[in-house]
Amino acid sequence: MTNETQETTRDVQDMDKHFLHPWEDVTAIGAAPRTVISHGNGIYITDSDGNRMIDGPAGMWCVNVGYGREEIVEAVAAQMRDLPYFSPWSVTASPAAILAERLAEIAPGDLNNVFFTTGGSTAVDSALRFAFFYNNCLGRPEKKQIIARVGGYHGSTYLSASCSGKVLEKANMDMAENLVHLLPKPDPAERSEGMSIEDFCTEKVADLENKILELGPDKVAAFIAEPILASGGVIIPPEGYFKRCHEICQKYDVLFISDEVVTAFGRLGHYFSSKEVFGVEPDMLTTAKGLTSGYMPMGALFISDRLISDIKASGNSSKGFFNGFTYSGHPVAAAAALANLDIFENDKLLEHVQKTAPYFEKRLRELSDIPVVSEVRVKGLMAGVQCCLDPDHPDEDRDVKFLLEVDRICQENGLLLRPVYSAAVMSPPLTITEAQIDDLVGILRNGLETAMERWRPSSI
Ligand SMILES: Cc1ncc(COP(=O)(O)O)c(C=O)c1O
Repeated sequence: MTNETQETTRDVQDMDKHFLHPWEDVTAIGAAPRTVISHGNGIYITDSDGNRMIDGPAGMWCVNVGYGREEIVEAVAAQMRDLPYFSPWSVTASPAAILAERLAEIAPGDLNNVFFTTGGSTAVDSALRFAFFYNNCLGRPEKKQIIARVGGYHGSTYLSASCSGKVLEKANMDMAENLVHLLPKPDPAERSEGMSIEDFCTEKVADLENKILELGPDKVAAFIAEPILASGGVIIPPEGYFKRCHEICQKYDVLFISDEVVTAFGRLGHYFSSKEVFGVEPDMLTTAKGLTSGYMPMGALFISDRLISDIKASGNSSKGFFNGFTYSGHPVAAAAALANLDIFENDKLLEHVQKTAPYFEKRLRELSDIPVVSEVRVKGLMAGVQCCLDPDHPDEDRDVKFLLEVDRICQENGLLLRPVYSAAVMSPPLTITEAQIDDLVGILRNGLETAMERWRPSSI
């Protein structure tokens, strides 16, 4: 480490005090200087002091094809030279049109209408606004209530945040409580003692049906759900839950919105997981992140042909969906997304994930022999390693602090984690190899064991 790089790090950290980061505690802005990341290559990121780390969460569940993909860099530069912007209101341009067609081809069912957004929150917000618009067009303006779940995360606009069920993070924040109703978390680990997983599944599906009946089916517009509750800690609902919830929605004419901001673009081994993994053709689907592998900000809302036909059939007058963004279909972001899709095809990335995921799962499950590991949840290339220092005396605050210590030790040894409460959450770049999984699991094991040795005697 040279003096020059040390100073650079300090300079950046100093300037960073003006960068109000997401989820910032405004009483402590800049109090804990952040690691400064300066480079990325493959599954690795390097900080400004030259320390290389495996990027456990792939940025923010998004750098799916890994860092340093020249194909995307070239496509973006070429597009900027040709046309850096067009107004999606009045004209169109080929990158967005080609991307829309290509996405419609790979999307499940009849999700053939692609509405581009700036990210996941705006895709979710647009989906909910479309649900309202749909019911207005069909002459049922009372059908506006939304059902979501505790533990879910859908974004940071007013409406998408209102649908998010990370309850701790609602303190001091206003929510659209008159519109959104949260069901209990479908986390099998929280089922009552002696209850089978099947019975738990039935109970969680009944939660949805009962809520629809309580509010009145003529009042409920939509149910929004992630197939796996990602930011909630990689919570995997019981087998069959997603499909049965879809059936309930169909029974009561409630729109089913699948939030695939995390689970699409290879994370579970398919472009989209709603149908391939969970057997559901949703009415709407939202995505972002892996759409461009994080190289450019972009999200997308997919709307089914059925909903468009229903609106067309509802009368002869024109019906504008007055929702859109200056950057809807941004040509540079679309060029990045197209190059990203090319990489998926050329590198056979979906097949790679399908082949690698069982090894990822096997290696992570081996961590269960560490006493502090209370549960290992894995699906595709996303995982949550839950920690509890003392199951007889659970203490979430203590376990959160423990995880922060694990994260610190892992960073020193070359792995960036993303603790979510008391779980180490991972979603590495999809290009990860078995040897790199060995490294990741080895560093994580060391982090957990070292933190446990340091912690256990004094803290329990
Ligand atoms: C499932 C899900 N939906 C929506 C969002 C919001 O996406 P963005 O941060 O791009 O607005 C996220 C972000 O993590 C997410 O995980």
